[in-house]
Amino acid sequence: MGDLYGKTIVLGVCGGIAAYKAAALTSKLTQAGATVRVIMTKSAVQFVAPLTFQTLSRHHVFVDTFDEKDASVVSHINLADSADLVVIAPATANTIGKLALGLGDDMLSTTLLATMAPVWVAPAMNVHMYANPAVQQNMQTLRSRGVRFIEPGEGQLACGYVGKGRLAEPEEIFATIEQYFGGGSRLKGRHVLVTAGGTVERIDPVRYITNDSSGKMGYAIAEEAVRMGATHVTLVTGPTALSAPAGVELIPVKSALDMRDAVLSRLAANHLIIKAAAVADYRPAAVAEQKMKKKTESLTLELVKNPDILQEIGTLKTEQFVIGFAAETERLDEHALDKLKRKNCDLIVGNDVSQDGAGFSGDTNVVRIFDHNGLVEALPIQSKHLVARRLLELAAERMPRLAHTTGIPS
Ligand code: CTP
Repeated sequence: MGDLYGKTIVLGVCGGIAAYKAAALTSKLTQAGATVRVIMTKSAVQFVAPLTFQTLSRHHVFVDTFDEKDASVVSHINLADSADLVVIAPATANTIGKLALGLGDDMLSTTLLATMAPVWVAPAMNVHMYANPAVQQNMQTLRSRGVRFIEPGEGQLACGYVGKGRLAEPEEIFATIEQYFGGGSRLKGRHVLVTAGGTVERIDPVRYITNDSSGKMGYAIAEEAVRMGATHVTLVTGPTALSAPAGVELIPVKSALDMRDAVLSRLAANHLIIKAAAVADYRPAAVAEQKMKKKTESLTLELVKNPDILQEIGTLKTEQFVIGFAAETERLDEHALDKLKRKNCDLIVGNDVSQDGAGFSGDTNVVRIFDHNGLVEALPIQSKHLVARRLLELAAERMPRLAHTTGIPS
């Protein structure tokens, strides 16, 4: 039974075009076994019919404070008391402002005033409205009172602007809610080591060979591992433009050889190893001590093969659960399965880097996950965080029970 089963979530839907996404969220929450009680503002009703939410939630939808259907209760108090969690998605600048000021002039704002449950707010609005100091200050006020924000994404907005203000995707809001109700302990007791980014192979003091890896996939995995309650998360990372995720031990490295040392020396101390790094296959045979001078018309660099870190892990591992990545531009399934077997991984994440929405620099990925028996799951385009989350869930389901694991500190 899922973590959301039997939980009551009061969902406040405000008047913005993103109100339609709240329908998908209602459906997901209901399917996961939660009771969803929807409150719409009058403006929200301009965008989506209450009947949509009534049908998806199988409950009456509240809009008017005085439209009391059940004489035995006062609806906004009853709803406020029944909530295990209140989520406002989408939240407009107006509702955020009312909540910050403590105003209660409709069904949603009175319920918000009355509830003792945690309140989460997923804003959605025009980029300039979102950046407006009044809105930012209201959000700050609410944060200081313990309201949690599910940040809007950046991208094309319905108003024509491009920027921050797009409602977080229903899947992301759902994953955050699910984690709150227990998914946050799935990696409890586990020590997780993640590698990320590309390695840098020096030619001389000012030149090097590297690749396009941004590190985003590996950083997302490390962050999600913390969210899922891992006891210790180590992130061995090549140079990236990303900041260290909270709660993670960051080990910066440069070359494949550095990464190899950092990983192999920590192998025995970890239960789960995820090799998302794009390790350079070759390095210059010699590193010039001084900046190389241009003397000749052509120059041939001799490269030698780097050790395959994942393959070494595959040979050395005892009880560790090992996940590799396979970045491919053709015949994805075949190459990914071949790598899984050759490198003795438990799972491999096949990634067609030539596909739209997949690959190195973006925030999304499209992956196919394999085990020794073949395809486990094909994930449609989604944020790297959701990919990370699903991957860790699959690992958590398949890893040996902690009691059976010896030698690794818990
Ligand atoms: N990998 C590694 N050490 C290397 C090369 C790759 O640990 N020297 C790991 C990567 O971190 C990844 C997996 O192996 O988890 C596959 O990497 P990829 O670059 O897709 O494959 P390669 O083994 O390099 O094979 P090829 O370049 O032939 O596709």
